[in-house]
Amino acid sequence: MSKITVLFIKASLIYLALGAILGVWMTIPNVNYGMFRPSHAHLMVLGFCSMMIFGVAYHILPRFSGKQLFSDKMADWNFYLANVGLIAMTVGFAHITAPAMGILLLLGSVIEAVACFLFVVNMFKTLPEKGL
Ligand code: HEM
Ligand code: HEM
Repeated sequence: MSKITVLFIKASLIYLALGAILGVWMTIPNVNYGMFRPSHAHLMVLGFCSMMIFGVAYHILPRFSGKQLFSDKMADWNFYLANVGLIAMTVGFAHITAPAMGILLLLGSVIEAVACFLFVVNMFKTLPEKGL
């Protein structure tokens, strides 16, 4: 298993644990969780689900394609930016009422989107032009 696959899968599991703790806290009666809901939602969907998919995809899709991954560097940057972006989004969402947090959310969202585009381009370049 490559370094990038292990990193993504471990990060994904950590976000699952954090998201679950936050989710349970949100179920406590009378807790006003407000914008912690999108924080929890994105810890789960971008942290747990997407990172698990990224990690497994980097292992499996080049093998299915019978090709090397197009770029290891792009995969590394996908990892760094997805983590920085998600953490900024999580904090930004949760404290969105403070104006500086709106900027943090915007920055985090753009960084997260760039991370996703790196994955998209890398995978398009790795997959065969057409299947059998
Ligand atoms: C221990 C496990 C979990 C707990 C205790 C939990 C708890 C919660 C709670 C209390 C809410 C707020 C619901 C509301 O405001 O009506 C919520 C929303 C949400 N959760 Fe979880 N959750 C868990 C796991 C997950 C997982 C595994 C995912 C995704 C893979 C997920 C995705 C979401 C999403 C997307 C929302 C927002 C839903 C919406 O827009 O209405 N959660 N969760
Ligand atoms: C670059 C990536 C993404 C960005 C910048 C982003 C941004 C946002 C924003 C700004 C909201 C509105 C939050 C609010 O004010 O309530 C939102 C909500 C939501 N997004 Fe995303 N999103 C991203 C990726 C995703 C992905 C990949 C999924 C699912 C696979 C997803 C699922 C959701 C859900 C379920 C909600 C509703 C959450 C709630 O009810 O609190 N998002 N997203």
